Amino acid sequence: MCGIVGYIGHREAYPIIVKGLQRLEYRGYDSAGVAIFDGEKINLAKTKGKVEDLKKKAESTISLKGNLGIGHTRWATHGVPNDINSHPHYSNSGDLVIIHNGIIENYESVKKELTKRGYTFESDTDTEVLINLIEEVQKTEGVKLGQAVQIALNEVVGAYAIAVFDKKKPDEIVVAKLGSPLAIGVGDNEFFIASDASPFIEFTNNAVYLEDEEMAIIRLGKEIKLRKIKNDAVAYPNILELKMNLEEIEKGGYDHFMLKEIYEQPRAILDTYRGRLRASQGLIKMAGIDQNLEKFMNANRIIIVACGTSWHAGLVAEYIFEDLARIPVEVEYASEFRYRNPVITDKDILIAISQSGETADTLAAIKLAKEKGAFVFGVCNVVGSSIARETDAGAYTHAGPEIGVASTKAFTTQITVLTLLALKLAKEKGVFSESRFHEFLTELETIPAKVEKVLESNALIEIIADVYKDSTNCLYLGRGYNFPVALEGALKLKEISYIHAEGYPAAEMKHGPIALIDDQMPVFVIATKKGHYEKVVSNIQEIKSRKGKIIAIVTEGDTQVTELADHVVEVPETLESLSPLLNTIPLQLLSYHIAVMRGCNVDQPRNLAKSVTVE
Ligand code: F6R
Repeated sequence: MCGIVGYIGHREAYPIIVKGLQRLEYRGYDSAGVAIFDGEKINLAKTKGKVEDLKKKAESTISLKGNLGIGHTRWATHGVPNDINSHPHYSNSGDLVIIHNGIIENYESVKKELTKRGYTFESDTDTEVLINLIEEVQKTEGVKLGQAVQIALNEVVGAYAIAVFDKKKPDEIVVAKLGSPLAIGVGDNEFFIASDASPFIEFTNNAVYLEDEEMAIIRLGKEIKLRKIKNDAVAYPNILELKMNLEEIEKGGYDHFMLKEIYEQPRAILDTYRGRLRASQGLIKMAGIDQNLEKFMNANRIIIVACGTSWHAGLVAEYIFEDLARIPVEVEYASEFRYRNPVITDKDILIAISQSGETADTLAAIKLAKEKGAFVFGVCNVVGSSIARETDAGAYTHAGPEIGVASTKAFTTQITVLTLLALKLAKEKGVFSESRFHEFLTELETIPAKVEKVLESNALIEIIADVYKDSTNCLYLGRGYNFPVALEGALKLKEISYIHAEGYPAAEMKHGPIALIDDQMPVFVIATKKGHYEKVVSNIQEIKSRKGKIIAIVTEGDTQVTELADHVVEVPETLESLSPLLNTIPLQLLSYHIAVMRGCNVDQPRNLAKSVTVE
């Protein structure tokens, strides 16, 4: 993971870099560092902790003047988070400096070789090995920095997005990418380097996204040229015009990004179906499917791969595809799928779901499925991400940047895209009558307003959060379409509040978890009308008779569950297959408030990172 930022041009580099690092902290936040070239020497500051800690240290210890610099925010892989292991890293001569997002797998053998040649190492990192390998190549081969980087990268195995500069050549930065993302912002004779476009969006909308195995020598006064790391082939950069704006990546008056993103869901869901869903014409238009309809119509089955919350969206999609479109679906953790020698044929469609579009396991699963001939369809949020580029076709969720580490709007917009896809296939396959199709389209159009309505329960949810904030265990139960919602509710709580929580299919409770229930155990039950309401009511009775505390999500006007439960949160009525879009909202808010009340860092929970680019 980790976030990288660099700048070369006519402005002061330091403020651009620290602000950029703050925007990239979702990628890792256990340590941070900057290196600025002041015209004569490199001034470097780094520290364990957050970018805020780095600012304090840098601003009191080093000169911050200079128009060339690089910075890093870390999520440790090799070496514990401490000042020394933080990036940037110098080469032994002190001339070269590097930032790195990724892992060099063969660093130990390279380190041994370099040690024999007299190199010494301060840190435990793979990155310090790489910068010294580059220096060694520069010395022994007598080549320029760009070539030295290229030769060194051909000797290492692993994943990387790197930026390197040489104080003897202060008009250039060399960058390279394999597996981790790297974008170059192109200004007027100034260049920005970053893991995503957020650090430079206020300066330029023009960006070049490096492909895997590409490098670039970024030189002032020159156009960027891209080169293949393996074979020297030169490519002209494809400069994209970005649509993102600054407001989207700032908190906009909310205390946390997570809360802002929860509240953005009505707009995000609307943006997801805008232009695609045309209820009045009885149409769903999705270019990625329209152009590949045959493939979908002839598919034997759909395999969905994803991780975490995206995997939960995949589970909801399994219910939707099988129930509505009658297509067999399997949902797999990408990390398991990639290593278990799965049976895949060219009649299979693999749908990969990923907010970031960078998750390493999901990417590897895609590559495996492609090798075996499957058609791969991506559902991503981040435009131009690795997964979006690697898939044969896809549909963006259009949720806008999600900065809070816990996924919220990504989940509901993924479900929205997958619902559109299933509905379209149901219609094309003739499984749906015109009237049923129309009923679904019109109901889907009401969802943003209904989510808005659910958000009005925020004050009530805060009161409930206060009652249960000190719990040590929680159980989440749901059936059918709402079983994945129970899983997602439990994940949200544990990842941001560090309370142990489990999601279970409500009926499975009696096969084990019921033993946990006593008067200390809060049980969150999704008990909305439609689906298996009566059966869930029976499950609630079972909890009640064992004195468990019941907090239920119910349909507006409910009386039966309301009489049994300790607390209820009402949501508007909708079709069963659309109910996860509403029922998940109170659970997001509940986790948010509990985490805030427990003093947890909601946007940057411990040990986590937004974009998991290591396996
Ligand atoms: C949970 C969460 C993670 C991600 C998972 C996959 O709130 O954010 O579980 O869902 O790491 O990430 P993406 O969707 O970027 O592939």
